[in-house]
Amino acid sequence: MHNKITIVGAGHVGATAAQLAAYREIGDIVLVDIAEGIPQGKGLDLQESGPLEYFDCSLIGTNNYEDTANSDVVVITAGVPRKPGMSREDLLNTNVKIVKSVTEEVVKYSPESIIIVVSNPLDAMVYVTKKVSGFPKNRVMGMAGVLDSARFRAFIAMELNVSMEDTQAMVLGTHGDLMVPLPRYSTVSGISVTELLSKEKIDSIIERTRKGGGEIVSLLKAGSAYYAPGSAIVQMVESILRDKKRILPCAAYLEGEYGITGIFMGVPVKLGRKGVEEIIEIALTDEEKTAFMKSADAVKNTIKNL
Ligand code: NAI
Ligand code: 2OP
Repeated sequence: MHNKITIVGAGHVGATAAQLAAYREIGDIVLVDIAEGIPQGKGLDLQESGPLEYFDCSLIGTNNYEDTANSDVVVITAGVPRKPGMSREDLLNTNVKIVKSVTEEVVKYSPESIIIVVSNPLDAMVYVTKKVSGFPKNRVMGMAGVLDSARFRAFIAMELNVSMEDTQAMVLGTHGDLMVPLPRYSTVSGISVTELLSKEKIDSIIERTRKGGGEIVSLLKAGSAYYAPGSAIVQMVESILRDKKRILPCAAYLEGEYGITGIFMGVPVKLGRKGVEEIIEIALTDEEKTAFMKSADAVKNTIKNL
């Protein structure tokens, strides 16, 4: 039997993730949206690419959560994206209502699912889903670190003119300007970038990474990024459903790890069939610790406004 993946929100990010997940045949896919016709149209269009892309999983679009029943993984991308001049936090009041109502429906029909939240502001929305679902902490997580780390990796590869494939990077903390890129844990074929780039270059790459989402918003003007976010989602879904146990930076619920309790923060986790199977605690320098704690304060501040 195929795995079942529900993607809530058939907009830019949701539809891109559906396309990539279908190409990799990770499971059958249900796209849900409140907009009538959009998920159905995109689902059918994607299904019709099957003979060309050689995939056999099924793709359907729907406005009805009954069709999502017994999903293994649910990805929540429903909500509004940023426009130029907006911060992710400006989306809070609109998206909290959407994410709350979506989570209620998801839980009703897929009580054993693993939920990956994508809607922004990410660290607050994943907190809402955890509270509303009542799911254990291994079955609720947020996607942000994989995307932010991919941006960091891309900028490193572009700067050094080396293969993207050989770059690794670790970005922890909140999905916002106070995210914590860690050059010490970022490498090209195992060589730390601190050996390969000057401090000034690394600092400017860190700054570009922190503002990476905003850079795309200011170019697109009518919305935010979706190709790299779609890829990041699918990497997480694949690690879970294929039980790959990849170590990826994800927003995970902390209960004392890194000295923080009761909020979601981007940390390295082991992702497998049970979801977040382990939170990896890495040693941080005093400077990194200070940045991580500032990041945690930003998350607490957003949650306070819920
Ligand atoms: P979009 O506007 O293209 O799509 C959003 C979709 O959600 C629309 O199709 C809309 O009809 C649907 N929707 C709204 N209310 C709904 C409800 N109650 N139930 C079901 N569907 C509903 O936006 P896009 O670009 O796909 O972004 C989606 C969200 O993901 C935004 O909040 C954005 O900020 C966030 N995002 C987060 C990233 C991350 O790294 N965590 C990366 C990229 C986007
Ligand atoms: C990003 O970083 C919109 O949060 C999203 O592109």
